[in-house]
Amino acid sequence: MATPIRIAVTGAAGQIGYSLVFRIASGEVFGPDQPVIMHLIEIPPAMGALDGIEMELDDCAYPTLAGVVKASSDDLEAGFADCNFVVCVGSIPRKAGMERGDLIRINGPIFTSTGKAIQAAAAKDVRVLVVGNPCNTNCLIAMSNAPDVPSDRWFAMTRLDENRAVAQLAQKSGQPVAAVTGMAIWGNHSATQFPDFFNTKIGGKSAVEVIGDDEWLKNDFIATVQQRGAAVIKARGASSAASAANAALGTLKSIVTPTPAGTVFSAAICSDGSYGIDEGLITSFPLTTDGNKWSVVQGLEHNEFAQAKIDATVAELQSERDTVKDLLA
Ligand code: NAD
Ligand code: LMR
Repeated sequence: MATPIRIAVTGAAGQIGYSLVFRIASGEVFGPDQPVIMHLIEIPPAMGALDGIEMELDDCAYPTLAGVVKASSDDLEAGFADCNFVVCVGSIPRKAGMERGDLIRINGPIFTSTGKAIQAAAAKDVRVLVVGNPCNTNCLIAMSNAPDVPSDRWFAMTRLDENRAVAQLAQKSGQPVAAVTGMAIWGNHSATQFPDFFNTKIGGKSAVEVIGDDEWLKNDFIATVQQRGAAVIKARGASSAASAANAALGTLKSIVTPTPAGTVFSAAICSDGSYGIDEGLITSFPLTTDGNKWSVVQGLEHNEFAQAKIDATVAELQSERDTVKDLLA
């Protein structure tokens, strides 16, 4: 039997947590032969709810579940002890009428202690996925408070945006989602993000040619993807949860699995300076990986329209970084 992988989920009793922990425990990310130990972390008033989640995990009798550790946010080092993966969901979601960036001073401080505890207690090979918003800048805060954890181990989630973009293009073109390849999100998980339809293919042909409607792509399509989180909040009265958990699962799978030829995946990573984007800024790019080390896809071309969109989203990330400079170590 393989050595169990330890994976921590903060905010495990929240909406996303409830959709996420069972699917991880079931073997969906690491496969049917890889045992996992789930570390579930919550604020003290929600520890009772974690007891219920542990009971339900027991009642699933997953062959892959090798143990459950529960910890409160008052003792994050116990929660992250020896973890190979940490998924940071725990934080406050936005309400109708707010932008994700409005959460920056509410949620940002959570990520200083998170970074410090990851550095102090997690396994040497830890990889961290930040979901809690504003996720790019929260990831930057955690990373800067954990200077001994290499910068290529930090990810913030833009996979939900990628999935939304793929679904929109599939619906518009009348083709299956699997026909849409190469779609990647650039920049921030926010209303400035750029879903790069110019470098996307549908059924192996340029998405621009297949859709045949530049105005729709430049206006309705981009706006729909940028505003989808707000539209879900308006319709459901709460922020996306099942689709967010699904995207977190997809991100984890993508970062541990060699990327299939001809495909890319989106995540915000610590910029290595590719495409002139500030080194160290947590920015979403098109990525590939060998399952261990990721690379930014090189050689993509951006016309004036695309470059202006990328510049705008990077400028927003720079401004968020300025807003939290007191939280950066
Ligand atoms: P929720 O309120 O249902 O759950 C959040 C949970 O986090 C709660 O159970 C709460 O007790 C817990 N929590 C709060 N502070 C904590 C802390 N310091 N340590 C540990 N746990 C803590 O919210 P949700 O719908 O699950 O959303 C969680 C976050 O994910 C929000 O910030 C939301 O905006 C974000 N989100 C991001 C994406 C994305 O694509 N990146 C998508 C959807 C939601
Ligand atoms: C989303 O994209 O659905 C999440 O980031 C939640 C939100 O506030 O939009």
